[in-house]
Amino acid sequence: MNSAQEIILHNEMQYSEYAPHYDNLCAINPAYQDLIALFSNSLEKLCLPSSPVVCDLGAGTGNFVCQLLTQIPMAKVTHLDPSPEMNTLASGKYAKNGFEVNIVESSMEDWEFEDDSLDLVVCVNALNNAPPVMPMLKKICRWLKPGGSIFLVNFGREIKILDWTWFLLKNSLKNRGAAETVRSIYQTRKAFSSNRAGRGDQKSGRLWTHTSDELSAIVEAAGFEIREFQTCYRDYADLVLATKPNERSLN
Ligand SMILES: C[S@@+](CC[C@H](N)C(=O)[O-])C[C@H]1O[C@@H](n2cnc3c(N)ncnc32)[C@H](O)[C@@H]1O
Repeated sequence: MNSAQEIILHNEMQYSEYAPHYDNLCAINPAYQDLIALFSNSLEKLCLPSSPVVCDLGAGTGNFVCQLLTQIPMAKVTHLDPSPEMNTLASGKYAKNGFEVNIVESSMEDWEFEDDSLDLVVCVNALNNAPPVMPMLKKICRWLKPGGSIFLVNFGREIKILDWTWFLLKNSLKNRGAAETVRSIYQTRKAFSSNRAGRGDQKSGRLWTHTSDELSAIVEAAGFEIREFQTCYRDYADLVLATKPNERSLN
C-alpha cells in the first residue's frame, strides 16, 4: 500500500479517454451491475428523508445518481466529477430521464460543501484517485449532517488485467454470444488500455491501494461509525456504509 497521507500528482489514467467507453464496459461487467444492486439495497436500509440532500463524488457517467433518482425522485443531487467528458455523458443521461441534477466539474479535494449540509455522500471507485484520503474522509464527515451517511466503494487491490479480461470475456460469451462479444470487446478496447494505465498508477503509488482492514481503520479514524462493511467487486474493492455520529463534533 502507498501511504494514505501521501500527496500524489499526475495520474497516467486519463478519464477523458475512458469516458466514451465506460458505459459499454459497465454493460458487459456483471460485477458493476452487482454494485448498483448493493447501492439500491443500501438506499432502502438508510431511512433517508423524502427529499434528501445527496452528493455523488466522482459520479462519472451518472449511473449511481440515476439509480438514486429512480428510487428517491425528490432527492436534491449534486454530481461532482473533474472530467468534462464524464460530465457531458452524465448530463445527457439525466436530460433523457428528466432528472434535475446539479453538475459540478471539480475534484473532490478542491470542492467545499457547507458543514452539516448533506444527508448522503455516494463515492464509488473514486476516493482512490484523491489521496491523501484521511483529510478527504474527514472533510466528507464534516459535510454530512449528524446522522448522515456515506455509501463508499473503493477499488483497493491490485488490478489484475488478465483476470478481469477473462471474467468479462467469459460472462459476455455466456450472456451475449460470440458475435456480440467481439463487437463489445472492440468497442471497449480503449477502456481496457485505461485499466492498464490504472495498474501503472497503482504501481507508481498514484492510485491509493489498501486492504479491507486498512480502509475500515481509516474510515473510523476519520470520525465515522461503520454500519456495514463487505468486500465486493470480485474482492477487488470494499463497500462501507457508515454514519456520522449524532453526538460528537468531528472537526
Ligand atoms: C472508475 S470511475 C467511477 C465512476 C462512478 N462513480 C461509477 O461508479 O460509475 C472514477 C471517476 O472518478 C473521477 N475522479 C477522478 N479523480 C477524481 C477526484 N480527484 N475527485 C473526484 N472524482 C475524481 C473520474 O473522472 C471518474 O469519473
